[in-house]
Parts: sequence; structure tokens; C-alpha cells
Amino acid sequence: IVLRTQHIEEYANDNAIRSYQQQVSEIHQHLHASISSDTENIPTGWLQDPLEANQDLIAEIECISREICRKSDILIVIGVGGSYLGAKAIHDALGSYFTKKDDVEVIFIGNQLSSDYLNQLMDYIQDKEVYVNVISKSGTTLEPAINFRIIREFIEKKYGFYAQQHIIVTTDQENGLLKKASELNNYRHLTIPENIGGRFSVLTPVGLLPAVVCGVNIRDLLAGASSAATELSSPNLDVNPAYQYAVIRNILLNQGHQVEILSVFEPKLKYFQEWWKQLFGESEGKNHTGIFPTSTIYTTDLHSIGQYVQDGRRFLFETILSIAEPEQDITVPFLADDFDALNYLTDKSLHEINTIAKDATMKAHANGAIPVIELNIEKLDAYHLGYLFYFFMKACAMSAYLLNVNPFDQPGVEEYKKNISSLLNSTSKEYKLS
Ligand code: PA5
Repeated sequence: IVLRTQHIEEYANDNAIRSYQQQVSEIHQHLHASISSDTENIPTGWLQDPLEANQDLIAEIECISREICRKSDILIVIGVGGSYLGAKAIHDALGSYFTKKDDVEVIFIGNQLSSDYLNQLMDYIQDKEVYVNVISKSGTTLEPAINFRIIREFIEKKYGFYAQQHIIVTTDQENGLLKKASELNNYRHLTIPENIGGRFSVLTPVGLLPAVVCGVNIRDLLAGASSAATELSSPNLDVNPAYQYAVIRNILLNQGHQVEILSVFEPKLKYFQEWWKQLFGESEGKNHTGIFPTSTIYTTDLHSIGQYVQDGRRFLFETILSIAEPEQDITVPFLADDFDALNYLTDKSLHEINTIAKDATMKAHANGAIPVIELNIEKLDAYHLGYLFYFFMKACAMSAYLLNVNPFDQPGVEEYKKNISSLLNSTSKEYKLS
């Protein structure tokens, strides 16, 4: 990953960045000490080399995936938040835009409460062969729990005695209703390590099983994350771009840039942006502080919200996540009649044009007083995606601690969870829809 800072030098120069070194070293020490500490109860299991950490699981996950691919048309993945967005990000970033004929279709549910969606899904899967992967660390989250209940009934009716074969549970090792259900019903069970919280769990079975079913080489994904674990292991700001990024965000926030836009020029990254928003929003947004994370997809959004970015109220900064090489390219053809006056672009590739659009956008936004950071990866493949996941998780932990907040809790989400369950309990009989 390359961090390009030419458009933020007037906001955060090298000296300003280096002035954070001591604070960064202390936080680094705190984070890394917690991995091996029995006394510090900080969920930093994700910091360990993800390839090593998953070594024993890879073969098991690949084996389950082969069975799913052999026996089903559809894998339904049930989960929300950290038990959803990472897997969906991998599915979209590394999958094809258009489903190929023999692929298992992966459908994500349990991330909202739309009755229309579920009804239409039930019709859609009626005559298909289906496997289910239900993912919930707590095993009690309402959205996935309700969806699982409905899908489980369908699976039991459809497969009878063999139903348990079609359900794979990804949850805590010890606790929660899902764990109990998997023991009672003999479902296969994949464990989410105790010391890894939801939004930091993409490189555990939470993201890995759906990823293999999508055809992703998870060994490459984990190898990318493993390289990041090595390359980003130094507390030295001069050599650690994840920490540089965290520090630059902190400097920008202190200057009043309260909103960060993660912008991409590749729509496949839409759910990677959603994963990133959850990671930073849920980790940092507490005690009335934190940067509000949002996202844009260019060039599409240059023709809509781009106007605001260029010229609206100045409280934004932008991080452009760019890709050096596309998976495939295509060139502009020569036309004898040149009816659209585009012959001057003959033989230019679409990726070249997209890259020029990216450079032009960065320049325009920088001129419009938007600090613009660029993070560039070589390719959008499993290795680089794994690297990016680790990069952002590490940057996020550092960034949250720089704000003096705990990156690993989510009291605001718990508030919603508590309210909906008490409302449903106390009013389930008399609550009327108006
Ligand atoms: O990051 C988190 O901890 C949350 O976003 C959870 O992932 C989300 O609430 C889902 O929780 P669970 O996996 O327990 O169903």
C-alpha cells in the first residue's frame, strides 16, 4: 500500500506528524502488549498474524465450502454489522459483477427487517438447493435471529432429517443461544475467537467461509493480511503508513475536518466502504467525538454529491482508495465517422481514463480546500484486499486511542439493541402499527 500525502502537506506536514511519535509509541505498546497479556482484557486477537492464527481452520473451511458448492445453488449468509459487512465486502470486491452460470449464489440476509425482502427471497429459493451460514458472535442479535428462525423452518421442511447438514453456525466458542442451538441440533460450528470483536472479525471464519464459497483464495487473502501484520508492526511513524494515516486523521479532525469521505473509482468496493464506515464509525464515535465516516463512488458521484464536496461547507476531508492495475482493461475504439468527437481518445484504455479522472478529481478537491489523502494498492485481488483489511483495522485502533476512546466497545449500538428488545417485550401484544 502506498500512502500519498502531497495534497495534505499544508494541513499536516512531516513535523506535525512526527510530533505524535511518543503518543503513538505508547498506544502501540499498549495494543501489542495486550495480545499476550492474561491480565489485560483487550480484544486484540485480530492483531496476530491472521495466516498463522487460522492455519488449522483453513482446511476445514475449504472442505465445508466444497460440500456447499457441490450440493447447493444458494448459500444464505445470515448476519449483521461485523458479522456481515466484511464477508459482503469480499464477495463484491473479488467476485464478478455478473453471476456466472455455475457459481453458487451467495445471498446476505439478516442485516435489515424488510418483510418484502424476506417474502421475495422465500419465493426465490423455493425450488433451489440451499445451505445456510448463520453468523452472530453474541448469538442473540435480533435481525439475524429472526431471519434464521424463518429460514430454519424452511430448511427443516425442505430437508427433514437431513436439515442439520445444511446449517453451519459461526459463533462464540462457549456462549450464546446459537452455540446452544448448534449443540442441540448437531449443526456444524465454526468459532469466532473470544478476543476478536465483530467489526474486527473479517479474517476469521466470519469472513472466510462465505469468501471460499464465492471462489476467493483465502490463503492469498490471509497472506496479504499476514504481510500487513509484519510490515505494519513498527511503532515508528516514518515507516508505518497505518499509523501515519491515523495521525493525519487526528490532525485534520483537530483542525475542524469532522467528516472523512472514503472515495473509490471502482464500484466493486462499495461494500468495502461500508465495512470501513462500520469499523471507524463504531470504533470512534463515542463521548461526542470521532470523525464521521462516509463514502462516495466516482465518477458516478461526481455528477451528484461531488458538487457539495467541491464547493459546499468546508468540514470534509477525503481519502481516495485507488487501484494501480485493473483486473481487465478495454480500449476506446476508432470510429470512421467520429460522430461523438472522441477519436482523440482512440486506443486509450478505460482504466487510463479512470486514473486521469482520479487525478483530476484529487486536484480539483485539493484546490477547493479539501485535504485529500491517497491510498494506492497495486491490484484488487485477494492478497491486497487482505492487506487493506489489516491496514485499516490497525489504523482504526490507533486512531481511536488517539481520540482517547475505546475502539472495541459500542455502547451506542447496545442502547438500540436494549430499546428494541424491551419495546418488543413490553408491547408485543398491544403495539399497533399506525
Ligand atoms: O462490531 C460489532 O461488535 C457489532 O457491529 C456486531 O458485529 C453486530 O452488532 C452483530 O453482532 P453479533 O455478531 O453478536 O450478532
